Amino acid sequence: MQNYQDALSHPIFEYIGEAAENLNLETYVIGGFVRDYFLKRGKPKDVDIVAVGSGIALAEEVAKLLPHQPKVQVFKTYGTAMLRAFDMEVEFVGARKESYSENSRKPFVEAGSLQDDQNRRDFTINALALQLNKENFGKLLDPFHGLDHLQQKLLKTPLDPDITYSDDPLRMLRAIRFATQLNFKIETESLDAITRNHKRIKIISKERIVDELHKILLAEKPSVGFALLNKTKLLPFILPELSALKGIDEKEGQRHKDNFWHTLEVVDNIAQNTDNLWLRWAALLHDIGKAPTKRFHKKIGWTFHGHEFVGAKMVFKLFKRLKMPLNEKMKYVQKLVLMSSRPIAISEENVTDSAVRRLIFDAGNYIEDLMTLCEADITTKNPKRYKKYHNNFKIVRKKIKEVEERDHVRNFQPPISGDEIMKTFGLKPSREIGIIKSAIKEAILEGEIPNEYEAAKKFMLEKGQKMGLTTVA
Ligand code: CTP
Repeated sequence: MQNYQDALSHPIFEYIGEAAENLNLETYVIGGFVRDYFLKRGKPKDVDIVAVGSGIALAEEVAKLLPHQPKVQVFKTYGTAMLRAFDMEVEFVGARKESYSENSRKPFVEAGSLQDDQNRRDFTINALALQLNKENFGKLLDPFHGLDHLQQKLLKTPLDPDITYSDDPLRMLRAIRFATQLNFKIETESLDAITRNHKRIKIISKERIVDELHKILLAEKPSVGFALLNKTKLLPFILPELSALKGIDEKEGQRHKDNFWHTLEVVDNIAQNTDNLWLRWAALLHDIGKAPTKRFHKKIGWTFHGHEFVGAKMVFKLFKRLKMPLNEKMKYVQKLVLMSSRPIAISEENVTDSAVRRLIFDAGNYIEDLMTLCEADITTKNPKRYKKYHNNFKIVRKKIKEVEERDHVRNFQPPISGDEIMKTFGLKPSREIGIIKSAIKEAILEGEIPNEYEAAKKFMLEKGQKMGLTTVA
């Protein structure tokens, strides 16, 4: 029998082993920690411990033995406990048999054997357990051949998949998320069960769903996950805005591209260039306004007029529905969606300084991310066009750098304050001040004057004169 003591070199396992001996409890480390050890998948942050008996008592004993005697957080209703030790979060649970009700993820729990506990886990690769008791320290318990499935890159449920998914429908998303993160296949029977049970996703909280979506989006190739959500019919229940982008319409011989599959390509493209979760969200949502704005015109074919504006509004609704933060992250995604076609429009024409200045002014600090999004948006299969579009964006990027170095409009601060305008013309707070300020800004963006104090002052005086104002100072 092979032994895996080397997986347990972290000092925490010695303490848990000792506590297990003191209480005479069969104890195992199980789940993600063991899976990721075999996958050689980086440093673990949390560890799940199962005791055949009371997990809470075990946690309390471990805390007593640890030099820093950490606080044990006890969740009585679930029979679990958690403590922090070293760099880890350690979760303790008593081995259990669980059964679930139709309408809730919350199980009725009874004490059980290790095997009962393993039966009730989501995937065979997450049911691998390593024993921590002294005489069997490092012994692997793998009743469902999880190790083989790790090698085969296969996600399979320990029990009949209909039971596993219906017990806890979050697992449908976990399957898709693991398939995406680990580049695994979901076993066909499991995939069919997810499709059959897809409506059960309704009982899962939005927060849990979003957690999984984040993880899918942060994977190397997020399209895998979204394609699976689509295949299993989960997508319309989670992101109907994306499902609505599916399909190609044809009228009078004119077709548009399938904006769902296009979006997935964009997300994969951007994933190669950024780990910024919210920029990846922007890529996922950049075209959602296309479904409600799609029109056919005899002369020009398919149009999606104003889809950026409509899309930005939809971002707010989507974030709200999914209970995502309605803070600066949401505004960031909205702004990128709103501006997602601007650099394209510029690059198609002669790239003028004033167009670039306006782009920088409007995008502010998001300008780099906006360019990254637009570059990811190039999904043409025509190599000539692909090269041309990328070259155009290179020109735009170069121009952005030049213009910004010269004109500093990225975080535009008016060179003349409202206060100075008031003093110059002896005005009280009034509309005129706004008019002059905005005229100065426009003149700078248009390149009529440089973004400098003296030039702006001269412009202000002329503008004031034209408006019939007289100087007092
Ligand atoms: N688990 C389960 N069903 C769930 C969630 C978790 O059966 N819906 C079990 C699995 O055995 C899992 C373990 O609980 O391995 C720990 O869950 P969690 O910490 O959420 O996930 P990990 O598998 O550790 O992986 P990750 O940290 O990537 O989410």
